[in-house]
Amino acid sequence: MQRDLDDIVRLGNGYTRDGNYPFALVNVTNRCNLSCPHCFVFRDDNPNLAVGARREPDTDEILEALAALRDRHGIGFMLWMGGEPLLRRDLLVRGVQLFPHNHVVTNGTIPLVELGPDTLYIVSLDGPEDVNDIMRGEGTYRRVMRMLDRLPDGLSTPVQVQCTVTPANQGRLGELVAALQGTRVGWMTFSFVVPAKQDETGLVWGSLEERMSAVEEVARLKAEYPEFVRNRSRALELMSPENAPAVTAACLTKKLLLPLWLDGDHFTTPYCCYGDDVDCSRCGAWVVFDMAARMEASAGPRAG
Ligand SMILES: C[S@@+](CC[C@H](N)C(=O)[O-])C[C@H]1O[C@@H](n2cnc3c(N)ncnc32)[C@H](O)[C@@H]1O
Ligand code: SF4
Ligand code: SF4
Repeated sequence: MQRDLDDIVRLGNGYTRDGNYPFALVNVTNRCNLSCPHCFVFRDDNPNLAVGARREPDTDEILEALAALRDRHGIGFMLWMGGEPLLRRDLLVRGVQLFPHNHVVTNGTIPLVELGPDTLYIVSLDGPEDVNDIMRGEGTYRRVMRMLDRLPDGLSTPVQVQCTVTPANQGRLGELVAALQGTRVGWMTFSFVVPAKQDETGLVWGSLEERMSAVEEVARLKAEYPEFVRNRSRALELMSPENAPAVTAACLTKKLLLPLWLDGDHFTTPYCCYGDDVDCSRCGAWVVFDMAARMEASAGPRAG
């Protein structure tokens, strides 16, 4: 190994060398060609030091470290993120060979590269053009739709869209679903914004009660497009003010997913995959409620 594993990956926040983590996330770069106001990665209090392409750990260093972590922690699924992960496409092409299951989350402004049929691209789009561009920057909707329109014919890697729901787009979600029909996007999910503790973006709800109309709108779209909208109905029910506090208090994502955030020349583990500065009581992350719904289903039928 070029660098000692404990030097390139500095564990903290309760993540331990002997922990078993079936899932992991890695921010392969802190560089990004967009600057979305709601983005949790670039919050002031999170580990996110960007040092430029030349001073980030090199591809071999990162891949060696990830292979060692895979073997030490039993990681079977890797979520590749950033920043914008496609700024390190060579790393992705080799990296997805290391794990049995891989998802790559991208802002969709950079052409997708072939990663094989067993990896999934998750392309971020946050609404029809006007609201998407408020959240993701002027012109991004057209750039992403053009990219989707020009996917190489032979691309075997499936493509999903993920929309982050906020008060800014909650009334326009149906337009996005309709716009994606007939494209090469296979399906989509809605995640809900994860606020910072003192969130001043104007893109979060003040309470779980206020969030409910957005959750109900996604449930309506799920009923209208049951195959295309992949949120589980039970996961949406778990987002209610009655259910959500128990789900987030026992967050399975925090327990099972090792978050590897790049901070300059090394990786560190923040409080959870959404960073250090999070308000768990209002967390709307798709993965948290999906895992809870799956766990419930595997435990058998509910009483009552
Ligand atoms: C941080 S980005 C990194 C990958 C890539 N740059 C992208 O935008 O897809 C990963 C996903 O997190 C979403 N996201 C950003 N800020 C969020 C927040 N505060 N709460 C929930 N999701 C958020 C983005 O919209 C995107 O779908
Ligand atoms: S494109 Fe992704 S990483 Fe970049 S600012 Fe937007 S959400 Fe954050
Ligand atoms: S912010 Fe969400 S994902 Fe993170 S620990 Fe809290 S509930 Fe879990």
